[in-house]
Amino acid sequence: MGIVLGIESSCDETAAALVDSERRIVAQRIASQDDAHRPYGGVVPEIAARAHAERVTPLVAATLADAGMTLADVDAVAATAGPGLIGGVMVGLVSAKALAMASDKPLIAINHLEGHALSPRLADPSLQFPYLLLLVSGGHCQLLLVEGVGRYRRLGTTIDDALGEAFDKTAKILGLGFPGGPAVERLALTGDARKVPLPRPLLGSAEPHFSFAGLKSAVLRAKDAGIHADADIAAAFQQAAIDCVIDRTRKALLRQAQDERIAVTALVVAGGVAANQAVRSGLEGLAGEYALPFVAPPLALCTDNAAMIAWAGIERLGQSDPLDFAARPRWPLDPDAAPVRGAGVKA
Ligand code: KG4
Ligand code: ZN
Repeated sequence: MGIVLGIESSCDETAAALVDSERRIVAQRIASQDDAHRPYGGVVPEIAARAHAERVTPLVAATLADAGMTLADVDAVAATAGPGLIGGVMVGLVSAKALAMASDKPLIAINHLEGHALSPRLADPSLQFPYLLLLVSGGHCQLLLVEGVGRYRRLGTTIDDALGEAFDKTAKILGLGFPGGPAVERLALTGDARKVPLPRPLLGSAEPHFSFAGLKSAVLRAKDAGIHADADIAAAFQQAAIDCVIDRTRKALLRQAQDERIAVTALVVAGGVAANQAVRSGLEGLAGEYALPFVAPPLALCTDNAAMIAWAGIERLGQSDPLDFAARPRWPLDPDAAPVRGAGVKA
């Protein structure tokens, strides 16, 4: 039995959680900064870093108090050490270092993307390696072969925008506010996707990569045309995005089976966009076609949270990182992945 304190601060959620090796989320708290960033229509790094600095210490104290525990009861302190907005990452990581040093417990520096990648195993004990993971968040859109803890092979990535970013930009174009993904999903429910023709970038292309910039531009043109209902645009955008996601994920599944002969145990989705019901049901249908189990974390574990960071700490329990471990603004899960042709700086 082990229990890990996890801290997350890479974007606009300050979060702390206690998770044990029996997969129990013993306590968790999340302080969202949506209200602070809303006037700017997106996350402002300086405001985020300041808010994390104000909140992280009381949040950790409250999480421990909720569980009736002190630092003496935990086996390790895990914190997101990147990638993300560097000011926020530094705040969470420095706090974790201080707590680890004061309590003489190991520090475990967690890659935020690994937190997302392993989060489905927190909710589903039956999920075994290797699995094919679609990781879709505000900053990332990747297809990964998850072979084990710390063993990730990137099969595909976006050459421009992340999927969550495309949802957020569509929300902005439609004046739906921030954060955009859930608002687009809600509006799409009342629209008719067939009324607005939109492109499906990279559909059918050989490598399982993604592109959403052209789709976003087409959404902007559809809005500017002034002849479509916003709900129809939202529905058409979501459908086009899902068609791309399904096609690209199918390509990765087929290539994995044919080229590499590695049989995956499941099709898994994680990250903020995994909270989208239409995305989930599209992927569930795809998994069914290939007789694969489909695994998606509960909604609260999809968007940023500290339980996934604590769980990654449980998966890595026994390891420790030096107290001078530096926060990393960029930290690819697969350092050997080749750069993608056509990709900009975000690759
Ligand atoms: O994983 P996450 O919380 O933060 C990052 O690591 O980026 O993902 C946030 C992203 C945002 O772009 C947000 O709009 C999107 O996930 N998102 C959604 C939904 N809920 C969150 N996108 C579509 N539908 C949703 N229901
Ligand atoms: Zn995230």
